[in-house]
Amino acid sequence: MDFDCEILKNECLKSGYKRVIFNAPEIAKAARGGQFVHVQIETMKDRILRRPFSISNTDPATGELTVVYKVVGHGTEELARLRPGDHCRILGPLGNAYTAPDQDTFPILAAGGYGTAALYLVAKNAPRKGILLLGARTADDLILVEEFEKIGFEVRIATNDGSAGQKGFVTELLDGALAGQDPEKCTVYGCGPTPMLLALGKLTLEKKINAELSLDQHMCCGVGACFACVVKVKDETSPDGWRYSRSCKEGPVYNATEVYYG
Ligand SMILES: Cc1cc2nc3c(=O)[nH]c(=O)nc-3n(C[C@H](O)[C@H](O)[C@H](O)COP(=O)(O)OP(=O)(O)OC[C@H]3O[C@@H](n4cnc5c(N)ncnc54)[C@H](O)[C@@H]3O)c2cc1C
Ligand code: FES
Repeated sequence: MDFDCEILKNECLKSGYKRVIFNAPEIAKAARGGQFVHVQIETMKDRILRRPFSISNTDPATGELTVVYKVVGHGTEELARLRPGDHCRILGPLGNAYTAPDQDTFPILAAGGYGTAALYLVAKNAPRKGILLLGARTADDLILVEEFEKIGFEVRIATNDGSAGQKGFVTELLDGALAGQDPEKCTVYGCGPTPMLLALGKLTLEKKINAELSLDQHMCCGVGACFACVVKVKDETSPDGWRYSRSCKEGPVYNATEVYYG
């Protein structure tokens, strides 16, 4: 479960995003969309603390594992410095996964930030291609648009400043994506900032659309041992109506009906 993986490529995408490809045959064979890896970056000062990243793509034939990451702090800065031939220890694949869409499912992906990358594997493996709703602050923050178009997804964009697509939030694109579709066959797959996912979850419940949300939290152990990563989920047996759930183990993907919105 903990593998020594060589970096094959570590390249810039745009606006602080990078794409790293590891040789990780065991993980590439086992991974499903929505799972993540916990990466130990040898050159970090506090190198025992790993960093979690969604599995963006895999190629079981070549053993390649792709992660798309944004440089935001010490760990990701160090990861960005690594070169082909360098190695990382990688724990994974971890967490549950999105329910794989079947032939009948019309997939509506809703993404913000690195969530776009996290949803790529779901999109690639979906038998029926659907729509990606992509939200960002500004046009510069949009990533992987062409990659989704290449695999047959229509991409609809919302930016906060109106510099690309519709001005506003990604949730405002949902009605348009549902238009003309049988709501019972639609599933919304969400990954992005927590406030966006909570708004999306509430909206899909109102509209009675099935939705699965990846509630990524700060993580420490990544394997269910420390409770650093908890989220609130509904629990009718508890006096308050909720309980904590370890998102690294029971999640990170939750059905919108499970999430506690209070
Ligand atoms: C399941 C999961 C999947 C993830 N997938 C990806 C991915 O595919 N691509 C990607 O770029 N990032 C992803 N992240 C977030 C990524 O783990 C953090 O950006 C990374 O750990 C930051 O490490 P750092 O040492 O560079 O930053 P730090 O120095 O630790 O922190 C820098 C800043 O980043 C913020 N930050 C740290 N962790 C998180 C987090 N989990 N969520 C939001 N903000 C955070 C901190 O609050 C701080 O403001 C994922 C997180 C989780 C839990
Ligand atoms: S990160 Fe330790 S329990 Fe989830």
